Amino acid sequence: MRKIIIAGNWKMNKTPAEARALAATIAANDKIGCEVVICTPFVDLFAAKEAIAGSKVRLGAQNVHWAESGAFTGEISASMLKEVGVEYVIVGHSERRQYFGETDETVNARAKAALAKGLKVILCVGESLEQRQSGVTEQVITQQIKADLADLTVGNMKNVVIAYEPVWAIGTGLTATPEQAQEVCKLIRDLLSGIFGAETAAETTIQYGGSMNAGNAAQLLSMPDIDGGLIGGASLKPDDFAAIIAAGSAK
Ligand code: 13P
Repeated sequence: MRKIIIAGNWKMNKTPAEARALAATIAANDKIGCEVVICTPFVDLFAAKEAIAGSKVRLGAQNVHWAESGAFTGEISASMLKEVGVEYVIVGHSERRQYFGETDETVNARAKAALAKGLKVILCVGESLEQRQSGVTEQVITQQIKADLADLTVGNMKNVVIAYEPVWAIGTGLTATPEQAQEVCKLIRDLLSGIFGAETAAETTIQYGGSMNAGNAAQLLSMPDIDGGLIGGASLKPDDFAAIIAAGSAK
C-alpha cells in the first residue's frame, strides 16, 4: 500500500565526475523493485541526471530555499531544481539544523516552497542523544512534526516522505534497534493521523535513517511502520547500497 523508498543522501561527497560514475553504477542495477533516490550535492545534479537517464533511479537534492529568486547568496530555488530534473528534496536534515541554523520555521518554509513547485519532500526529524537520554524523544518528535508540517494539506502529504533520523545514530555506527526505530516511526504515523487523518497516515512513507547498512537494513525494514531508508555513508558504496535496495525491494 505504501511506497517503499530507499534514498541515498550523499551529503558533501563526490565531485561531478565521481558523481557521474557512482550514479551510473547504481543505475545499472537491474533488480530494483522499490523507489530508489540519490540525493547529490547541487553541482553534481546535472552529471547524476545524465548518468541515471532511462533507469529506475530518481534524482534528489539536499536542500531548497523558500523564495522563488532574489538576493539569497548561496541558496538554490525549487524552480532551479525542477528544471535540472530533480524530483525529491531533503529538508530539515539534522546537519542543517545543527550546523546551519535551520529551525522548524525555516524547514516548514522550505517544504512549502518545494511542494508548491511540484517537488517531493523528504522531511527529516529526530532527537539528539541528550534528548533521548532525558526521556523527551516523544515531545521533540511531536514538536518537529507539528511545526515542520504546519499549513500543509492532505493533498500536499501525497508528496511528503518523513525520515526519522535519530541524531545519535547518524554517522556513528550506532544504529537504532529495529524496536526503537519502529516505536518512533509508529509515533510519527499516529501524529500524522491526528493532523491529516488515518488515510493519509496509512499512505505516508516513513523512512528510518542513521547508520543503516547492508547488514541491518532487512531487519529495520521488517518493522511494520518502517517503509524505507535514508542512507548516508552506505549509499556511497555501490555494493552496500545495492544490498539495501534489495532489502527494500523484498519488503
Ligand atoms: P549515515 O547513514 O551515514 O549514518 O547517515 C544517515 C543520514 O544522515 C542520512 O540522511
